[in-house]
This record gives sequence, structure tokens and C-alpha cells, in this order.
Amino acid sequence: MKNLLNEKVRNIEISGIRKILNKVAENPNIINLTFGQPDFQTPSYIKEAAKKALDDNYTGYTTNAGLIELRQAASDYQKKLYGLEYDPETEILVTTGASEAIDIAFETILTPGDEVLMPSPIYSGYEPVVKLRGGVPVFMDTNEQNFKITAELIEKHITEKTRCLILSSPSNPIGTILTKEEILDISNLLKDKNIFVLSDEVYSELIYDDEEHISIANVPEMREKTIVINALSKSHAMTGWRIGFTFAPAFLTEELLKVHSYIAVCANSISQVAATEALRQGVRTEEIELMKKSYKERRDYVYKRIKKMGLECVKPKGAFYIFPKIPKVGLTSAEFIEGMIDQVQVAAIPGDAFTSYGEGYIRLSYAQSIEDLKTGIDRMEQYVNTLTQE
Ligand SMILES: Cc1ncc(COP(=O)(O)O)c(C=O)c1O
Repeated sequence: MKNLLNEKVRNIEISGIRKILNKVAENPNIINLTFGQPDFQTPSYIKEAAKKALDDNYTGYTTNAGLIELRQAASDYQKKLYGLEYDPETEILVTTGASEAIDIAFETILTPGDEVLMPSPIYSGYEPVVKLRGGVPVFMDTNEQNFKITAELIEKHITEKTRCLILSSPSNPIGTILTKEEILDISNLLKDKNIFVLSDEVYSELIYDDEEHISIANVPEMREKTIVINALSKSHAMTGWRIGFTFAPAFLTEELLKVHSYIAVCANSISQVAATEALRQGVRTEEIELMKKSYKERRDYVYKRIKKMGLECVKPKGAFYIFPKIPKVGLTSAEFIEGMIDQVQVAAIPGDAFTSYGEGYIRLSYAQSIEDLKTGIDRMEQYVNTLTQE
């Protein structure tokens, strides 16, 4: 019977990450630097709001688009932090995390054969969804340009079939960000073209060194063709609550809403009330600022140690990942990680999990306690030294 199942689903590969996570699960002594989620707990004012929501019987469906209070709070948040203006009635949807937002965006804009441009290496959550929705991923290799996407590289990959460009700033797995100039260059290239932009901004609050987050939707000509995706998962340590958003012009939101209504009906009601409180409490509360400060300290620490080991590495400007190049000792990224787990009990993600353009690199998450990071990096250094001295 298996051959009767949807071929597109059968062809999707379970990511290489799974194998590593299975190894991690088997051994409690492993220092786990694979996680793409904050090691902090959700701030208590958000948890309290959820408890109250239960007592207040917020247990039924909400409107499909999400509680209007939450959409209003999200609208205020985007405006105050990034100068992005979206009408809560017609231009914002609450989704089940950024993941659902990505899914409904591709379902809404792609028809079979449409090409989606992806700066690579890239987060592993897009390619399978694009393929499931009949699209064709087109990877743009950013290796030679410090992992930065440029208008020039995009232009080389545009064909008649290009329907969408994915931008992700700050990026997972590298932590690069797009500057205003780079965004303007890309906008100049795309403003007269029939190409949508999916701008994944889930790490927008995690930017260091006084850099600022700029969205391509800040450019007036691009706003009409951009779906901005954001979520509370990373910024508010709320990965399990599953609250994300789409911000898009009304003509797009109207169609996104249809898909969302049939896929999810609505996002979780209790989480929506908690998320409203999260956004209303002031955008940058003490708890959130503390997390950010701590990520920055960890970023500085890990970057310094990686450089000291002699590994090439771009200094991350945002998110909570670092993407060093592995030493040239004849190992693939996956073999390097397997050896690191077996020999010194440290786990990270092989770079090829972020497309083949990530081969030769590994991703470490620094959303871990500084103690674990110290132990993990000490052990990694020992492993690298053994390999390079062999
Ligand atoms: C770039 C990027 N987008 C989207 C997501 C998914 O976010 P969520 O947990 O809100 O679905 C992740 C999670 O790691 C991510 O790194």
C-alpha cells in the first residue's frame, strides 16, 4: 500500500538531525549543542496569563485569524519596534508557530513548477514544504560571500518561473543579518518583478552589537509583495506554545486566511491569551532583555573560543547559532559530528542539514548555559586537536 501514498511526501527525507538526536537521547553525558530553542523558561507574567485564561474558560475556538486583541498587540509591536504598519483587522493572522505560517504562505503563493529562491545554507524547514506544495527550490550558494545574500546573486538565479524569494534575517544557521543597503539593493532588483518575498523574521529580537533589524517590508514598493513571518518562539522563549504570525497586505492575508482556516481553524486559544500578555507587557521587558544580554555574552565567548581553535567562522550578528568550518582532515560534517559525539560527547548539527552548501561546516547552538558551553567547547577543542595532530 505504501506506493499508493503521496509521492511528494514519500520523497521527503527525514533530516540527518534525527540520527544525532537519537544518539543524544541515548546518552545523558552528552553536551547537547544542537537545540534551536532558548534554554530559558517562558517569563512568569506570560505563564500567569495562561493560567488565568484556563480559569476564565478560554477553551473554545477563537476567530480563525486569531484573537483581535492579540492581532492588535502584534500590530503595535511591529510598529513600535520596526516601524512596520499592519492593520490588525485585515493584514495579520495568528498561526501555529512560524512553521504553519511558512506552510500556508507557500500553499497560497505557489503553483506547480514555481521556483523559490533560497540563499543557502538555509534553515531546513523550507525545502520540504516548498516541494510538498509543488514548488521547486532553487539554492543560491552564499559560501563565497561570507554567507550573505546579494542582489547580484539573486539576479543570476531569476527565471520566468521564479515566484518567491526567501529572506531570513537574522539567519539560521549562520546568524548573518541584512543591512539597510543590502535590503535596498534587493528591493531595487525586485520591486518591478512579479516575485513574492517570504521574510522570515523569527530572530528579529535577537540582534547584537547595536545592529538594528530591518525588514524588506519597510520598503514601500516591497510591502505589497512580502509576507513577513514572525513568532514568539525564540524572542519570548515560547517554542512549545506555538504562536506565530503572518503580516501581509490584505489581498494576500485574505487568501492566507482560507488556507489557515482549513489547516488549523485557529491557533491554540490559551496560548493566544498568553501571547497577548507577552506583547502587551511592553516590548522589551527586563526578562527579555536579560535573555538577550546572556545570548550576547555566550556568542562572544563561543566565537572567541572557536577562533582560538583556529577554525574559520563568521561572527554571528543575531539569532543564537554559530557556524564554524571544520578542519580539513578528510571528514564530512556528519562524520565530524559522529566522531565528536563518540569521542568527547558533544553534539552539534552537521552543516549539510542546511542543504549541501553547508557541507564542511557545523552548527552549534549557544542557547545553552555558559557552563555547558564551556565544557562543550573545551571538549570540542580537545577533539579538534586530536584530529589535526593525527
Ligand atoms: C528560521 C526559522 N524559521 C522558523 C522556525 C520555526 O519556528 P516555530 O517554532 O515558531 O514554528 C525556526 C525554528 O527553528 C527557524 O529557525
